[in-house]
Amino acid sequence: MGLLLFNIGELANLDSGDVSKPLSGISMSDRENLVLEPGYAILIDKGLISKVAPEEEIIGEYAPDFSNGKSDVIDLLDVNGNAIIPGLVDCHTHLLWTGDRSNEMNLRQNGSTYQEISAQGGGINRTVTSTRKASKQELISLGRERLSQASTYGTTTIEAKSGYGLSVDSEIKLLEASSELTTNICNVLPTWLGAHDFPKDKSKQEYMEELINVQLPIVCENNLAKWVDVFCEPGWFNLEETESIVNAAKELGLKSRLHVDEFVDSNGLNLAAELGSASADHVGFSNSDSREKAHASGTMQVFLPGTPYVLGKDLGNGINDCLDNNWNFSLATDFNPNCQTLSLPFVASLATHRLGMDPLAALVACSRNPASTLNSELKLNVGSIYEGGPADINILKSKFVDYWCQTPGISPIEKTFSSGSIV
Ligand code: NIG
Ligand code: FE
Repeated sequence: MGLLLFNIGELANLDSGDVSKPLSGISMSDRENLVLEPGYAILIDKGLISKVAPEEEIIGEYAPDFSNGKSDVIDLLDVNGNAIIPGLVDCHTHLLWTGDRSNEMNLRQNGSTYQEISAQGGGINRTVTSTRKASKQELISLGRERLSQASTYGTTTIEAKSGYGLSVDSEIKLLEASSELTTNICNVLPTWLGAHDFPKDKSKQEYMEELINVQLPIVCENNLAKWVDVFCEPGWFNLEETESIVNAAKELGLKSRLHVDEFVDSNGLNLAAELGSASADHVGFSNSDSREKAHASGTMQVFLPGTPYVLGKDLGNGINDCLDNNWNFSLATDFNPNCQTLSLPFVASLATHRLGMDPLAALVACSRNPASTLNSELKLNVGSIYEGGPADINILKSKFVDYWCQTPGISPIEKTFSSGSIV
C-alpha cells in the first residue's frame, strides 16, 4: 500500500523533456512546462513516485472510499494546499572538516586577502591541522549532524569533497567517513580533493607525486570517490598540475569536477571544458569564450554565491551571463569553514534577491541541473518529480513554489520525503 498526497498547491515537477538533462535560459523559467497548477495528487509507493495525476482521477482509482480526507484502502497525507518541489541537490560541499576559522573575517575586514591569510598560516592548511587530528568516528558524527541540517533545508542528494587531509591517511579517512554517511535521509556522493592545497610538510613536487602515484590509485582501487577535484587557481594548483592530475585520474576511470577561476580568470574553465569535466565550479571570473565552450562540451558551470558573499565580494555577472546566453549552470552551497551554510534556499535567495534571478529558474539550478552532473552515479535520476522516479520531494510552507527561496534566515520546508520516507 502506498501513500497518497492530496490537496497540493503548485507542484514544481520540473519534468519537461528528458529529466536527466539540464535546462538553460528561459526554459528554466517556463512555468507552463515546469509547474502544475493546484489540483494534482501524488502517489508514493516503495520509495518511488508511482503516479502524478489530477486529484479526482487518482483518488477515484486508489482511494475510492475517500471521505473527509480519510480512506481505509490507502494512507493519505493532506498537504493543506501547500506547494511541492523536488528534493534539492547540492553538488558542491566540503562536508567534512573540524576546527574554527571565524577569526579570519576580522583579518579580511582589515585588508588581508584570502592568499595572505593562507600565507600567514590560516586558510585551508589551518583546517587541515585540526581535521588530521579528528578520528574517523568523530568525522562521521559531524557529517551526520551536517546532513541532518542540510535536510532541514530540503537537500536529499549531496556531493561531499575530501580535501582537508592532504596526506594519504587523512584523505582516505575523510573519504571513508563520507562513504559511511549514506543514510535514508540523503544520498551522499564523495569526491576526492587531495589537490585542495599543498601540505606544509612536503615540497610541491613531492606532493604532486604522492597525489598521482599514491593517493589516486588507493582512491580508485577502493572505489572511495566518484570524481576527482583540484583547486585550480594561481597560488594553488596551476593549469599544468591540474591537467596532469585530471588525466591520471581519467586513465583510472575517474571523472572530474574542478574548482576554477574563483579569484581571477586563469583559463581554468577553458581547461575544464577541454578535459571534459562533469562540472567547473566557482567560475566567478571566467571569460565568455570559456563559458560558451563549457556549455558546448557538456561541462556544467556551478556558481557558489555564498562564497563571495561571506568573503565580502561582489556576486559578479556570471549567473546572468549564463541565463542570457542559454549556457547551462547550477547553484550550490560550497559549505566550508568560511561559508557555513548548507541551505540551498539561502544560496538561491542570494541569486534571486540580489541578482534578479527568477525563483523558478533558481529552483532548476538547485535541483534538476546539478542532478544532471550526479545522476550517472545514482540508480535513478534525481532533481525532478516524475513517474518511476525516486520519491525525493519537499512540501513547502506556502501554496506558491516561489516561496522556496524567499525566507533566507529560516527554512521554507514543511516536510521532506527522501526515497519515500519522511525525513
Ligand atoms: O571552495 N576555494 C577552495 N576551497 C574552498 C574554501 C576552502 C577554505 O577556505 O577552507 C572553496 O571555497
Ligand atoms: Fe569549494
